[in-house]
Amino acid sequence: MTLLESYTSGQTTQVQRALSAWFPAGTHPGGFGWESATDQLPSSICVARNDQGLVVGWAGMADGEGRIECGPDDASSAAVLADWLVENASGTTANVPVYHARPLVRAALTARGFRDDADAGVVAGLVHPAGDVEFDLPDGYRIRAIDPDEDTARVQVHRRAWKPLRMPYPKDILGRIDPTDESRFTAQALWVMKRTWLYDRELDLVIEAPDRSLAGCCTVWFDPETGWAEIEPLGIVPEHRRLGLATALALEACRLVGARGGHTVFINSAPLPHYPAPWETYLRAGFTPLDRGTHMTIGTD
Ligand SMILES: CC(C)(COP(=O)(O)OP(=O)(O)OC[C@H]1O[C@@H](n2cnc3c(N)ncnc32)[C@H](O)[C@@H]1OP(=O)(O)O)[C@@H](O)C(=O)NCCC(=O)NCCS
Repeated sequence: MTLLESYTSGQTTQVQRALSAWFPAGTHPGGFGWESATDQLPSSICVARNDQGLVVGWAGMADGEGRIECGPDDASSAAVLADWLVENASGTTANVPVYHARPLVRAALTARGFRDDADAGVVAGLVHPAGDVEFDLPDGYRIRAIDPDEDTARVQVHRRAWKPLRMPYPKDILGRIDPTDESRFTAQALWVMKRTWLYDRELDLVIEAPDRSLAGCCTVWFDPETGWAEIEPLGIVPEHRRLGLATALALEACRLVGARGGHTVFINSAPLPHYPAPWETYLRAGFTPLDRGTHMTIGTD
């Protein structure tokens, strides 16, 4: 039997451990940890447990965007979580990624009125084999792990890379951004992130510029149990863009993961028409697209 309970941040590690076994047919455990630390998980989440109290699935819903993840043979969790999604989508249209390797989830959603949403595109991602790859780093720049006493600069470099008005968005989107908007990454988020399962300071990378300021950052979440790592997030400060630094950071991540015995580095990116920069960057760096699933939708208006 599957029992549902509301999610609290105290359950993050248990959910991450369950996700470890399911990736890539689900969220990478590091990506979930990042979303949890930075308050980016869906506002409404339930966790499914089996008779022994083990986490066997989770579902989330926020603003019509749903998530549903459980093991491949777990029809009971698929059914209970699909019921929860329908209940929590009440009054709206809800869209959910469904992984190819989860036919029981697809069947449970179909039985409850969800249908394929071809317009929503595939459930994507990009992958690169772990291991040594040659790349150029512009003169005077250096990639290294963050220092233990560098938290303030680490928060600042993230906030500069994600300042909304300085994002490489198309002009029409930039025109709608409030110039005073700032990244939501804070010292508190970094504090939580550092205490999240799979966080490894040696894999929390920064790029030092010739003037010793930080030009970019990238957190690599390596799961030694599966050999899969996720880069989440990676950002370059505007003044240092288009020098090959994102490429260098992503490929250095591949080298470090290979050195730790990992096999593949994943980036949770998608070919977004309104924001092509990340997808284009990682493709150019040699990452290849991963087709993990499709989307289903239910309209209850
Ligand atoms: C996307 C981002 C990481 C790219 O960093 P970068 O250091 O400028 O990327 P690189 O110099 O390695 O780019 C290599 C290639 O990727 C492509 N690319 C990079 N930025 C691009 C853009 N804005 N539009 C289209 N293609 C782009 C180009 O082919 C580029 O080669 P070129 O400069 O010779 O044309 C950076 O713009 C950024 O930090 N954006 C904000 C944060 C973000 O969105 N991070 C990614 C999601 S986690």
